[in-house]
Amino acid sequence: MARLPPLVIDNGTGYTKMGFAGNPEPSFVFPTVIATHGGSSTSGGKSTVTSNASSRPAGAPPVASKPGHLASKRGIDDLDFYIGDEAIANAKTYGLHYPIKHGMVENWDHMERFWAQSIFKYLRAEPEDHYVLLTEPPLNPPENRENTAEIMFESFNIQGLYIAVQAVLALAASWTSSKVQERNLTGVVIDSGDGVTHTIPVADGYVIGSSIKHIPIAGRNITEFVLNLLRDRGEQAHIPPEDQLRVAEKIKEDYTYVCQDIVKEIRKYDADPYKYFARFAGEHSVTGRKYDIDIGYERFLAPEIFFNPEIYSSDFLTPLPEVVDNVIQTSPIDVRRGLYKNIVLSGGSTMFKDFGRRLQRDIKHIVDGRIAHSEQASGNLMRSTGVDVNVISHKRQRYAVWYGGSLMASTPEFYNVAHTKQQYEEFGPSLVRRFSVFGSST
Ligand SMILES: Nc1ncnc2c1ncn2[C@@H]1O[C@H](COP(=O)(O)OP(=O)(O)OP(=O)(O)O)[C@@H](O)[C@H]1O
Ligand SMILES: [Mg+2]
Repeated sequence: MARLPPLVIDNGTGYTKMGFAGNPEPSFVFPTVIATHGGSSTSGGKSTVTSNASSRPAGAPPVASKPGHLASKRGIDDLDFYIGDEAIANAKTYGLHYPIKHGMVENWDHMERFWAQSIFKYLRAEPEDHYVLLTEPPLNPPENRENTAEIMFESFNIQGLYIAVQAVLALAASWTSSKVQERNLTGVVIDSGDGVTHTIPVADGYVIGSSIKHIPIAGRNITEFVLNLLRDRGEQAHIPPEDQLRVAEKIKEDYTYVCQDIVKEIRKYDADPYKYFARFAGEHSVTGRKYDIDIGYERFLAPEIFFNPEIYSSDFLTPLPEVVDNVIQTSPIDVRRGLYKNIVLSGGSTMFKDFGRRLQRDIKHIVDGRIAHSEQASGNLMRSTGVDVNVISHKRQRYAVWYGGSLMASTPEFYNVAHTKQQYEEFGPSLVRRFSVFGSST
């Protein structure tokens, strides 16, 4: 009997991407949010291990309890919930909960219900007929992987499971770019989503954990910054308060770009605002009243916070190109060239026009400066052959993690690296502490 395709599910802090292996795009993309009655429930939930103990949700039990079996442990009340856009539409009468924080599952009870509805109602799949590929952030504690496996195998009865590190999938996704000459799994991944930006070096499919850096600037911050800029120019007042975040996000996604020189760009706008300002036509989401606003400097200032973070906040001041250079410089010396050569973009907040171009130029500038400095220090006795700096943008970048998962789960090798239900029953949850790196098994 022909096998049904594996389910590929990338649960992000902001958005869930889900679909079937072998497809070029996820079938569904919707907010990772659940609307339930009552307060933040942790009943039947397991404790969550995060790399930062203080981020554990208040009220979560300190010790992992046994997993729940969705059907048997719940009463009818527990079926009364919504996920995704439907959850947001019901926010007035239900409580909204985001089960994932900073890329990691924080509320397992909510996550289990979210998964149930997303598999049955959205994908319309019977989980027992499928293998499942899930994604995880770098340095996800093994306990979280075990909790995931318990839910997938015991509540959903899936056939097999593979949990892949998001960065490794993003590297595989970049193989679609014509700039990539070799299909290897060495490179630095810049994964910027809604909540956080990760800079992750990977050598031969293994994450170099000690060199990873997180930047507390991502999509949500940029949206907020757009709103601040609109407020400064008095434009925000024209937008109905309940629509402001949505409008700012839309402006960010549709009207912004990365400039090559911020001072020149401001001068350009000052000299001829009519040429560069854009008009945004909106409609009140409830009354239907129409309004217009001017979009100006935020068009290029919004993504500029990656390159000049001080324009947004004084909490984090290192520009992204410097962070990337630093990540590579703290990685083992023998992989550094390979890392500079393959800097790969992934996630919604890398989609700004010319983002890759500016990043490549700025990193190259730092690297060339360092080379010139050491040549000079050697009295010009040592000449460098230079370092190849490549930032890879490609057409699957928006959902790169999901797409990498789709590619991987559609190869025969996937079935060798995934753990099966039978193995799970034999060895228990600790089985999923380790997965072979894709490409390394024979
Ligand atoms: N064209 C675009 N230009 C700029 N930003 C965009 C664009 N499209 C989407 N985004 C932003 O990308 C973010 C969502 O990205 P993504 O789906 O990669 O995040 P996530 O996986 O949910 O979060 P995380 O990776 O932080 O866990 C949102 O902030 C969204 O506004
Ligand atoms: Mg993501």
